[in-house]
Amino acid sequence: MEDELKKRLWAIGGGKGGVGKSITTVMLGAMLARLGKKVLLVDADLGGSNLHTFLGIRYPAHTLADFIHRKVEDIDHVIMDTRIKNLTLICGADDILGLANPKYTQKMRIFNQLKKIKADMILLDLGAGTSFTTIDFFLYAPNKIIVLSPVITSLQNAYGFIKSSLYRGINRLFSNDPQCLDLVNRGMGLVEVDRIESIDELKSAVRSIGEEQHNKLSGYLDEFRVNLIVNNVKNGNETNIGCILQSVANNYLSLNPGYLGHINFDPMLDKHINEMSAFSSNCGTGISGSCIYDIANKIIKQT
Ligand SMILES: Nc1ncnc2c1ncn2[C@@H]1O[C@H](COP(=O)(O)OP(=O)(O)OP(=O)(O)O)[C@@H](O)[C@H]1O
Ligand SMILES: [Mg+2]
Repeated sequence: MEDELKKRLWAIGGGKGGVGKSITTVMLGAMLARLGKKVLLVDADLGGSNLHTFLGIRYPAHTLADFIHRKVEDIDHVIMDTRIKNLTLICGADDILGLANPKYTQKMRIFNQLKKIKADMILLDLGAGTSFTTIDFFLYAPNKIIVLSPVITSLQNAYGFIKSSLYRGINRLFSNDPQCLDLVNRGMGLVEVDRIESIDELKSAVRSIGEEQHNKLSGYLDEFRVNLIVNNVKNGNETNIGCILQSVANNYLSLNPGYLGHINFDPMLDKHINEMSAFSSNCGTGISGSCIYDIANKIIKQT
């Protein structure tokens, strides 16, 4: 994992659409900025970018598309200031054909440039679903946040997203090892017979191939740090969904997701978003504000 980004780069995903990934990214970014960090938000939802809208920017002057299509060579040129001190933004773009699925080399070009950016924290807002682009951004970030809401479909999608990402990562880890790849394919359900049902089972099977491969897999799992945020909470019991995901991820994926906290359902958020300009000065306040404050401080402690 890239040392330069180990503590600075955080991806915010969750699988399900509309659970609050983007708004969490904006509020968290604004709070971290208020707490003195220099923060860059990157809209990595290439099929449905809207971070700029949350920040009161109607027509972005520059977008990630300018960089992807080499209108500019340096990613610094597409970084925009926002109305919030210490908070900058790279807007996404979804109006250009083919952009939602950039090639791997194009993604690597983005990743390589992210390393050079002088910010204390870089937050990537990911799109919904499990497209390779979304998963690759998630995998590249050393710190991974999953936003889920207290409904069963969100739990299912969050689990599915973590599982798909983890298996894609392991697949890449063993890309030059056909024997292990065969086992990974069984874990992914790509073969009908002899399915491998959990990462624990996969680890045992990999161990039978070799101790070196087993250690490689264990090391990868240790580095795969997932953190959970439960959004849209209306009463305290609803945060239980985070514990359920922690336990399922532990049983089937051998992961120990951390719990960063919850965000209350805040009926004023929609109003702020609709009055776009007002939102940029209000985010981080309201009944969701204290939750964001706690989460931001927890993140700072980890960096
Ligand atoms: N804590 C909250 N309280 C009240 N409303 C919320 C909260 N979080 C999210 N919302 C509402 O949900 C809507 C969707 O949020 P957001 O766009 O952040 O979701 P998303 O996960 O990024 O969606 P997509 O997958 O489409 O990118 C927001 O416009 C807002 O109205
Ligand atoms: Mg979004």
